[in-house]
Order: sequence, then C-alpha cells, then structure tokens
Amino acid sequence: SNPSLLILPGDGIGPEVMAQVKRIIDWFGANRDLGFDVSEDLVGGAAYDKHGTPLHDDTMAKALEVDAVLLGAVGGPKYDDLDFSVKPERGLLRLRKEMDLFSNLRPAQCFDALADFSSLKKDIVAGLDIMIVRELTSGVYFGEPRGIIEEGNERVGINTQRYTESEIARVARSAFELARRRGNKVCSMEKANVMESGILWRDVVMEIHQAEYADVELSHMYADNGAMQLVRAPKQFDVILTDNLFGDILSDCAAMLTGSLGMLPSASLGAPAANGRPKALYEPVHGSAPDITGQGKANPIACTLSFAMALRYSFDQGDEATRLEQAVEKVLADGVRTADLMGPEDGTPVSTTGMGDAILAALDAS
Ligand code: NAI
Ligand code: MG
Repeated sequence: SNPSLLILPGDGIGPEVMAQVKRIIDWFGANRDLGFDVSEDLVGGAAYDKHGTPLHDDTMAKALEVDAVLLGAVGGPKYDDLDFSVKPERGLLRLRKEMDLFSNLRPAQCFDALADFSSLKKDIVAGLDIMIVRELTSGVYFGEPRGIIEEGNERVGINTQRYTESEIARVARSAFELARRRGNKVCSMEKANVMESGILWRDVVMEIHQAEYADVELSHMYADNGAMQLVRAPKQFDVILTDNLFGDILSDCAAMLTGSLGMLPSASLGAPAANGRPKALYEPVHGSAPDITGQGKANPIACTLSFAMALRYSFDQGDEATRLEQAVEKVLADGVRTADLMGPEDGTPVSTTGMGDAILAALDAS
C-alpha cells in the first residue's frame, strides 16, 4: 500500500503555501509513480473555529497512525486573546508531545542564486549545507522545578536544565545517523565548562560515538563559540548536535545565513515505528504571516522543501527529494522570485501560485 501522509494546512498563509505543495505531491504521483495516501485535516485556529480546540482528538489519532505529517503554520491575531489552553500553538505542541518528536532537524542551505541575499559575505555562505539537530522535548524549557516564587521580599524566576542519559543518547543517535547520510561529521555543542548537564551531554555523546558510530568524525564545541563560528565560517560544519535551548538560538542564527524565512524547512522526528519509519512532522520554520495573508505573496518554497525532507527521511526517496530540491534551485537560478526574495528595485515578483507553476515546470523538465 502507499505510504500515508496527513496534511494540516493550518492558518494564515499555511493553506496558501500548502495548496502549491499539494500540486507538487500530485506531480510525483502522476509522473514518478510515487502515490501517497493523502488525508487532510484542521489544526490551530482553523481547528479551534470548528471544534473549539486547536487539535481534535481524531486528528491527533490520525497523526499517530500515518507515516508522516506535513503542517503549514498556525496562529494569527484573531486568536491572540484566547485562553492559553486553546491557543493555536497548543495544537502544534500537542502533536510534538504525543508523537514524542525529540529530534528537530533544521537545515541551513544556501542556494547559489540567493548567496547575495544572505546577511553575510557571499563567499562565506555560497554552497553552505549544514544541518542543526536540536533536542526538542526536554532541557530547560521543560525541566522541574520551575516557576516564580517569593524569596525574602522579592520574586525569583526558576527553570531547571535537566537531561537524562537516554534523552541525550537518542538525539545523539539521530544526529550520527543523519551524518552518515551526509558529510559524516558531527559537531556537538554544549557548555560543559559551566554546566553539569553539559558535562553529561559530552560524556554520553562520546560513549554513543565510540560504541556505535566510530566511523563518523566527532568534535565538540562550547555553544557560545559555536555561535561565533556559525557566523565566521559556517562551512566548517556538517551536522551540529545540540540541546533544546542552545538549538533554539543556534538554529535561528543559522537560518539567517541563508536569507528569507520563506525558504526554511524543518523536520521533527521521533522513535522508529514498527515499520522502521520514525514518527515525523514536517513544517516550514515560518509562521502564519498575517501581514501578507490572502495577498498571494507567500513564498511556498519553505513548505516545498519540507515535503522534500519528508521524501528523504520518511519515504526513503532521497533521489526524488534531490529532484525537487534541484527544481527549486533551477527556478531560483532562473531569477524567479516571490516578494520576500527581492529588494524593492529588483523587478516584479511572482505570486505564490506563480512560484508553484515555476517549480512544476522545472519538475516537468527534470
Ligand atoms: P511569521 O513567520 O509568520 O512572519 C514573520 C515575517 O516573515 C512576516 O513579515 C512574514 O510576512 C514573513 N514571512 C513568513 N513566512 C513567509 C513566507 N512563506 N513568504 C513570505 N514571507 C514570509 O512570524 P510572526 O509574524 O512572528 O508570527 C505570526 C503568527 O504565526 C503568530 O500567530 C505566531 O504565533 C505564529 N507562528 C507560528 C509558527 C508555526 O506555526 N510553527 C512559527 C512562528 C510563528
Ligand atoms: Mg526560535
């Protein structure tokens, strides 16, 4: 039977970019004999409007059943005043939590045609292709105790950075596995100089490396130096492995090496299911972009590249993933640009649909 894919377009520009990706998914079915069992459902504000909850139990159950979930974006000003328990973001958090998606993959890849668009000098980023693997379900964002307490006559805000050995081990394995499919290099970043969790992190990564992945080149770096190196000479890295907090910051930093938010895909992976496929959620890094919603301006490339990641990591279709990435690269090389990829004097942008048309034409020519 065909692999199954649950599509959750969500809010704002989510449905707009997803409409283009659905055309691309259909293209693979029609032209590459790559059929998917596609279903579609609501998440975020769209789900709240219909069901009074940002993720219906039935949708959650479906997400746990399918081989991969592809999500657009959630949120928007319409929902800003809702109670925290039903905010659109909670739909996404519930998916991540119940699917136990502990490994967040954020590629930073610089398409040659956009090298001028980076915040950095062209030669620093041209050809850049790195992957940040961020631990996503533990660490200081979740550690107990937490809270704001009274101490003496003032308030104290408390969070706890906490990692178990098994939490470190599973995300480390995920980084080493990835490295084997890429440049075979992992750089692990923590602050073992000042943090106990950092010392344990480094120890466990070294143990897993020695026992199971000695063929992969491993190095370690303090996360503050890592931030500096990412901006100074990012091409020295292949896979960067790091915790939840440092990964949040380092991945946003790496993102800006390559240009627009409209270009950035991501994947969040969990443990392998019985069929060997990891639980997986693919989504663009960007949000619902209320400022451009409904104007046909959204760049569908981030969502498109997220589907390419699904082809590679959930469906074992690395060659087809590359085909799609090369189609995007060709479109950019031909000068096709949505508004987010050009300056005010750079000519006329294409619409969301126009970008979809161009990618499909490049696929046809591939
Ligand atoms: P945002 O990512 O939605 O937008 C930031 C800026 O980038 C805006 O100017 C937007 O127009 C632009 N932009 C984003 N994606 C684009 C695309 N594909 N093409 C062209 N331009 C694009 O972040 P913001 O404004 O902070 O948040 C807006 C809403 O999205 C909020 O409700 C927020 O909570 C939600 N959000 C949801 C996320 C998710 O679903 N994973 C992630 C981040 C924010
Ligand atoms: Mg962030």
